[in-house]
Amino acid sequence: MDDLLDKLKDFEVSALTKLESAHTKETLEALKIELLGRKGRLAEFSKSLGQAATESRPRLGAEINRLKALFKAGIEKSEAKLARPQKREYLDFNLPARAFFTGRKHPLLQTVDDIISIFHGMGFKVAHGPDVETEYYTFDALNTPEDHPSRDLTDTFYIKKGVCLRTHTSPVQIRTMESQQPPVRIIAPGRCYRSDAPDASHSPVFYQCEGLYVDEGVTFADMKGTITAFARALFGKAVKVRFRPHFFPFTEPSVEYDFSCVICAGKGCRVCKYNGWLEISGAGMVDPEVFRAVNYDSEKYTGFAWGMGVDRLTMLRYRIEDIRLLYDNDIRFIRQF
Ligand code: PHE
Repeated sequence: MDDLLDKLKDFEVSALTKLESAHTKETLEALKIELLGRKGRLAEFSKSLGQAATESRPRLGAEINRLKALFKAGIEKSEAKLARPQKREYLDFNLPARAFFTGRKHPLLQTVDDIISIFHGMGFKVAHGPDVETEYYTFDALNTPEDHPSRDLTDTFYIKKGVCLRTHTSPVQIRTMESQQPPVRIIAPGRCYRSDAPDASHSPVFYQCEGLYVDEGVTFADMKGTITAFARALFGKAVKVRFRPHFFPFTEPSVEYDFSCVICAGKGCRVCKYNGWLEISGAGMVDPEVFRAVNYDSEKYTGFAWGMGVDRLTMLRYRIEDIRLLYDNDIRFIRQF
């Protein structure tokens, strides 16, 4: 009996090895016949049971049945595996690439860059001043009286007594003239702050660019020419500039200036409120009181200063209808520029 049991053990090992290496339908089928077929190996073992000792037969029979179940399950498992669709490995070069977004300049800064390069061509340098400014530079040195409405708490953000967020870029005029002698030719871009409720055309934080030109013999005509040259460089030769009398404490005479509407070419549309003109900012000849504050000789020197509303210019260039879009920093908006 031991003899037959040993043979069954050897047979089990060799049969399982064959099963493991059967990878095609054909080899599996052949193995099935070899092991489980009517004239197969297990059938042979069953036949030889007759020669075994009677008391050993139940044990041998049980062993043969175990192997039959084992091989059957193994073969069925391999057959099922073969029947499954085979994975094919390949690269699909037609798949669209994922969008890759690079950083870019905010539209306001693109406008500032263009303003800088236009005035650079006319000999102006860039100057900077702090956003948190003293009342002296924001108002006093600019000849703005104590009771001027722009100093009001409802217009100006105060940090503490004597210190505020600058309400315009004009303080940079003073800082520049304090630190150098004429000729002065600067532009000063930067953020400004006023306590305005936000709406489509107001934002409590906004952008201005200041300009200042001081030398001997500078005239009002120079101012008109400079601003007109800037308008044409930014919006094209057809744009017209209009100067209207106005008042600022730090310039005399003062004007407000408008560009002919760049949307409708002056015909009248929703953007220019149907009057053909767009208000850009203020300008004027530097007031002698301002020269006095920085110790310039107002008998010898004259100059002009002007502001530029960078938000307005940006909105006109890119047809943006709400100033708040410039400060919300919604990436879906900024990505369009
Ligand atoms: N600072 C003025 C404003 O904020 C603009 C301006 C600048 C006017 C320079 C005259 C000269 O409205």
